Amino acid sequence: MPQEIKDLHTYLRDLEARHPEAMLRIKRPISLRYELTALQKKLEDLKKYPVIVAERPLKVDGSPSEHPVVVNLTASRYLVAEAIGIDPRRVALEYSGKTAARVAPVVVAKQEAPVKQVVVKGEAVDLLRLPIPLHQELDPGPYVAAGYVVTCDPETGVDNSALQRLWVKSKNRAGYFPASTSHAMANLAKWWNRGEDMPIAVWIGHHPAALGGGQVKLGYPESHWPAMGGALGQPLRLVPTETFGEKLMVPADAEIVIEGYVPREVYEAEGPFGEYTGYAGAQRPSPVVEVTCVTHRRDAIFHDFGVGLADMLVLGMFPLEARVYQIVKQLVPELVNVHFPLSGHRFHAYLQLSKTRPGIGKDAILAALPCDSRLKHVIAVDDDIDVFNEAEVLWAVATRTQWDKDLVVIPGASIFPLDPSAPYPGTFGTKGGIDATCPPPLDLGMPRQFQATNKVPDEVAGRVRVEDYVDEGSLAKFPGSF
Ligand SMILES: Cc1cc2nc3c(=O)[nH]c(=O)nc-3n(C[C@H](O)[C@H](O)[C@H](O)COP(=O)(O)O)c2cc1C
Repeated sequence: MPQEIKDLHTYLRDLEARHPEAMLRIKRPISLRYELTALQKKLEDLKKYPVIVAERPLKVDGSPSEHPVVVNLTASRYLVAEAIGIDPRRVALEYSGKTAARVAPVVVAKQEAPVKQVVVKGEAVDLLRLPIPLHQELDPGPYVAAGYVVTCDPETGVDNSALQRLWVKSKNRAGYFPASTSHAMANLAKWWNRGEDMPIAVWIGHHPAALGGGQVKLGYPESHWPAMGGALGQPLRLVPTETFGEKLMVPADAEIVIEGYVPREVYEAEGPFGEYTGYAGAQRPSPVVEVTCVTHRRDAIFHDFGVGLADMLVLGMFPLEARVYQIVKQLVPELVNVHFPLSGHRFHAYLQLSKTRPGIGKDAILAALPCDSRLKHVIAVDDDIDVFNEAEVLWAVATRTQWDKDLVVIPGASIFPLDPSAPYPGTFGTKGGIDATCPPPLDLGMPRQFQATNKVPDEVAGRVRVEDYVDEGSLAKFPGSF
């Protein structure tokens, strides 16, 4: 039997069958003018990350949308890991194995491509018909936040997919922000240097594994399609665009595609934009997209990211954890695990070490810092500390460090320009780390040289069970603390 095609529709159907408790279907109208983001934020404050499908959203102008909107598709570490087929506590160790696989894409005819069920061209194009949300108070307008921008290198023809935002300014014009470090920007520079406008296509909505494969940082120029196929475990189906034919392909099973040109040397103000950092990023001159065509499924679901929330952070953290693990492990084999916590918004990493030699806490910090410009602070802890439990990591910092010895401060390092604390002009600043590991044992097999931690005897801990003393209802109602 042929394998079922994996896309956003099949993912949501399967998720609902497997984990009905993980989905929140909102059947009453909810406005895309801040309301959906507000709900996501309130749930995030409660540490709840259901996949949310707004079935009857109201567009920012107050009119009902023809299409539902899905958010929080990639907010839960559990669900994203499950979609890729890895353990959520072993992302650093297992993610690369999944996404390193390459499966060549296949090209299908237009009639077989769901994303071509509706084709709107030229004057009839109207982006404002799409349910594009307004996220944060200072945003200048609605943003396509979960669009993958396809461009190609004009010299080799090799395509690139990059998750990059579009500010929808009118029915056929959008602001576009390609970071200077992105491969999309390298392509743009080449097109413009040749004196040509750059062809562009933006696809929205697919299976979370495909989204993960599309986020993998590759060499340049290198197509993301085989990495998406590898993550999906099946060939990605592609279809030529209406505007550029086979020169620019898009996923046939995406929900929506926006095609157009980035006109040569046209810059307009873009932003401020509520960034992943949690702050409103600066307004800056940026290119624009002039839209030539929109295609979509008849029953298209609009995928959006709750910007600055876990929804967009988790997807980007997986490759970061994997990259830091791979690089640091080569230099410090005692590395056990890596976690980029949500609280750090990609600026923080916790490294777990099985410490057998003095100095490896610092070695690991020094090896990790240059792995990504967004990584600014690294905390190294021992393997009795759970790197997924921030209270334990901070307990290690509180009780195992003396900062005259354990603090690493590296001024003048390359840092990410969107860091709100970055000194002008924003590309270099201070990185650092805290070595919160204990001194190692004097010799292999000996206990470490540090005070013993509190614990009741193992035999007693194994014997005393909460459920023997407390019923479930009372347990749920007991007061918490912080
Ligand atoms: C939700 C989300 C939104 C992003 N938005 C942008 C963006 O607007 N512009 C940008 O250049 N990078 C953005 N990024 C980062 C890029 O997707 C990332 O740097 C990517 O690796 C660039 O790919 P490329 O180098 O293949 O072009 C975003 C990342 C995420 C997870």
